[in-house]
Amino acid sequence: MRYGYFDEKNKEYVITRPDTPTPWINYLGLEEYCAMVSNTGGGYSFHKDPRDKRILRYRYNNIPVDRPGRYIYIGDKEADEFWSCSWQPVIKPLSRFKYECRHGLGYTKISAEYNKIKSAVTYFVPEKGSLEIWILDLKNVGKKIRRLNLFSYVEFCLWQAVADSTDFQYTLNIANCLSENGIIFHLTNYYPAAGFSSLAYFGVSHKVCGFDCDREKFIGPYRSESNPLAVEKGCSFNSRALGGNPIGSHRLRLTMGPNQEMHLVFVLGVGETREEGKELVSKFTDLQVALSELDNIKANWRHYLDYLSVKSPDRDVDVLINTWNAYQCRTTFNWSRSASYYEAGIGRGMGFRDSNQDCLGVLHSVSERVRQRIIDLATNQFKEGNSYHQYFPLTKKGDKTGYSDDHLWLILSADSYIKETGDVDFLDERIPYADGGSDTLYIHLKKAMDYSFSRIGSHGLPLMGYADWNDCLNNMGPGAESVWVGQLLCLVSKQMAKLAGFINRKDDSLAFEGLALKMQETINKVAWDGNWYIRAFDTKGRPVGSSKCSEGKIYLIPQSWAVLAGIAPQERLVRCMDMVARHLDTKYGIMLLSPPYKTFDPHIGAIGTFAPGLKENSGIFCHANPWAVIAETILGRAEKAFYYYKNIAPTTHNKIADVHKTEVYVYSQFIAGRDSPEFGMARNSWLTGSATWNFIAATWYILGIRPVYQGLQVSPCIPKEWNGFRVKRKFRGTIYDIEIMNPNKVSGGVRSLTVDGKRIEGSVLPISEPGGSHQVKVVLGGINDI
Ligand code: GLC
Repeated sequence: MRYGYFDEKNKEYVITRPDTPTPWINYLGLEEYCAMVSNTGGGYSFHKDPRDKRILRYRYNNIPVDRPGRYIYIGDKEADEFWSCSWQPVIKPLSRFKYECRHGLGYTKISAEYNKIKSAVTYFVPEKGSLEIWILDLKNVGKKIRRLNLFSYVEFCLWQAVADSTDFQYTLNIANCLSENGIIFHLTNYYPAAGFSSLAYFGVSHKVCGFDCDREKFIGPYRSESNPLAVEKGCSFNSRALGGNPIGSHRLRLTMGPNQEMHLVFVLGVGETREEGKELVSKFTDLQVALSELDNIKANWRHYLDYLSVKSPDRDVDVLINTWNAYQCRTTFNWSRSASYYEAGIGRGMGFRDSNQDCLGVLHSVSERVRQRIIDLATNQFKEGNSYHQYFPLTKKGDKTGYSDDHLWLILSADSYIKETGDVDFLDERIPYADGGSDTLYIHLKKAMDYSFSRIGSHGLPLMGYADWNDCLNNMGPGAESVWVGQLLCLVSKQMAKLAGFINRKDDSLAFEGLALKMQETINKVAWDGNWYIRAFDTKGRPVGSSKCSEGKIYLIPQSWAVLAGIAPQERLVRCMDMVARHLDTKYGIMLLSPPYKTFDPHIGAIGTFAPGLKENSGIFCHANPWAVIAETILGRAEKAFYYYKNIAPTTHNKIADVHKTEVYVYSQFIAGRDSPEFGMARNSWLTGSATWNFIAATWYILGIRPVYQGLQVSPCIPKEWNGFRVKRKFRGTIYDIEIMNPNKVSGGVRSLTVDGKRIEGSVLPISEPGGSHQVKVVLGGINDI
């Protein structure tokens, strides 16, 4: 069953009915102000940090779902009716409520028609300024004059989101919210946030005839957002909040003749003074200003997406690469795993491993920001080479340590950044450590490697530490070893060897290569189970992910990473990937392991606490699936790679949205595996490494256009039936218009390559003077056929 469709021309996903299986949201704002808005107006906002500067409240895991939000109620006293423009929270019967929601790039527009009143509210966050704008278009499509009451509604958070949802004996006595000439000011001061001087303002373009700032007054006792007393009565109480729960609600009286249209603009934002708030309200509630800000947002996104676009024979690939996957990559890069509909924005900051991986998906478009992000991350590394597990955006200070993989991802992001930009000088940039002192980035990277090589267990593999990429293998004991970290270490050491070679540090290069080969040898000696690689050894030396185990016999990631890290001859790599296909592949994607743990094994960790088929316990982890895609392209098995890629692609879920449940325009963290009664259902949408890795699998490996130190490599691995495809890619200041032709119906192998008509040997487009544009023609087939 479908709930909507992709409007490719407008780069929007159009939701055609509001009762989606879960709230289907959008992220607004790219800089410091972030607003999440669902297809029924639910959601919240924060400024810079979802934990320490939360503007609007959200009640997670609540019934009724997805409350509160940014609501506009319309009340018609004469008809004794009221409804809300976003369907929620009043929820009128769908037989009488016409509805459409368009999630676009940086904006969301919810249109409705009820009782002969058409409404469309467009929410967005302008490029500059810490605020959000709602443009409301109204039209009386009936024949009668209508006298309406219009109410806005937001519920403020008391800034510090942890206290706001836990320490009620304190926080319910601090609110200070009032209206001054039609602008509502949330002046609450949350004292422990020392030096906190922010206030929030909420204003509207038209004259208000009433307001409310106290939730209890507006909603009334034993009621909810569905039937606020004020809306039902058609009045406002002009309440101020001094303590209690602050809200912002304006009341406007509108008289609309037949066919009459009206446009209202609401502005909600944060600032330091009331004066500032008044100025910004007056500036942005001007309809022309608001509309031009909206155009700006659209233009900015188009500019962003222009860095890479594809025209292929597969519509899904085009929709994802040109719009939705690229959009999600930018969103995950911005907010890491900190605030979503599934992460409350209070416990998880910018993940060290997550953010390093997120860099890859936006390297080509916002490389300057990636550079800064790498600096922020390296600043959260310790002198010894390991790092904090995460840091908080407002303070940039980290917490939690002890994971065995975090620090190694820094090598991947920094190396990829250098390949994309050619900025080798970055390696000489001095960056402080979290525990004092500083070093060049190159030394930071080297120390990351050294740290792992200095913590080796009895089998010669890296110690597991608290956990590795799999957060839930977190109780394996102090002597436990991770095969997968060994593979990651091989991969990054090989990268470091190449990087060192590239900058003429020959001795380092040889040393790093030697270390990688030694680790590779060890893995093959101790971790090959006969048909696949095991996942780890617990502290007592018992294997995890082995045919000898009764549960969790085979894990996905040590197989795909064996290929990614190139640790064995082709035959062995093919063997383990064939086992992935045999034991882990399902109609909805590849499971992380099989069979699932049915009981909790204290020597393994939290993994066994998940229901079989969910999350890391045999779920179809969308973050790990693209590694299998990449592995298959490295093995030259294009059809398999493409099949895996398509199987978990959001677009694939559009027609089974009732099974999939989460948004079908973005990846979710996981899809329930075969052993779950909810097989096929996805959870934890939006902020997930799935975004970046699927983007990388598709663009670097299937389309095969990836940055290398010397230029842009073109080595596709596409389905044989494709006639070819075209990619426009900006790279180091130059535009490459690349046309790939596949006359012999092969998967890859470059037969000929020309740049502006001139033949080039090999498959790397050389670096050219910035500013120009080049026509590249590539014919596939020939001696390197795959
Ligand atoms: C989540 C975490 C990520 C972790 C993965 C597997 O996606 O954000 O850091 O690697 O789960 O446990």
